[in-house]
Amino acid sequence: MSAWPAESIWEAVVGLLPDFTVEILPEVDSTNSELMRRARSGQTEPTLLVAEHQSAGRGRQGRQWSSCTGDALTFSIGMPYAPQDWSGLSLMVGLVAAQQLHPDIRLKWPNDLWWQDRKLGGILVEAASTGGQSHVVVGMGINIRPVSTPETLRQPPAAMQELVPELTAPLALGHLAAPLIQALLAFESRGFASWQPAFEAQDALRGRKVWTSDGKEGLSCGVDPQGALRLQTERGLELINSAEVSVRPHPFV
Ligand code: BTN
Repeated sequence: MSAWPAESIWEAVVGLLPDFTVEILPEVDSTNSELMRRARSGQTEPTLLVAEHQSAGRGRQGRQWSSCTGDALTFSIGMPYAPQDWSGLSLMVGLVAAQQLHPDIRLKWPNDLWWQDRKLGGILVEAASTGGQSHVVVGMGINIRPVSTPETLRQPPAAMQELVPELTAPLALGHLAAPLIQALLAFESRGFASWQPAFEAQDALRGRKVWTSDGKEGLSCGVDPQGALRLQTERGLELINSAEVSVRPHPFV
């Protein structure tokens, strides 16, 4: 694997976040789990933690997130964090990643990156509280190299090299890390609303008929200024904001 741009990321960020560190580990169970353990034990310095391999990567809703070395970019950012309103945070993170990586990437509410209706990456946001201080861990996994999948898989994952053949995990991190940290700091002071129009422009679900995992069905009408999904159902416009809900588009609509 080519060299990780740890030093240039550190130089771009340390002025904004004193005590910021960048760590690259050949292997860890999960970069989110590691930074959550550190936060709970009082190690709260702002940290970008990258793993070349995760032995127990985690996704939303208790799912696994697995990848082999070089096939994906897997990292987490942990830092003390106290926004007035946390809603829309994972949407903003996905949006900034899409903007930095490729204009054709779309966002699937609430935290997936999609390309051509296939999952390209995902985001896992977790919060901890230690000694009266709140802390965030933002984890991101992005498929870089296409991997072979069973032909029966309905929606095989997408990979960044289908869009940018020369991209590697270190190059993708170099594009992403500093803008993402700058955006996290902006979100802390002003919330999601200013990102709403840009999110809507890249929303993979807007105008499509969707199902939610808790049994609702309707037309996806974008997101509100807090990042809740606006769903036009038979009962009227409903706002979906539970982190426990997932949404799927009807395949042929
Ligand atoms: C999802 O799609 O449900 C979210 C996937 C998030 C995966 C990333 S990989 C880096 C970080 N560490 C983890 O264990 N998970 C996140």
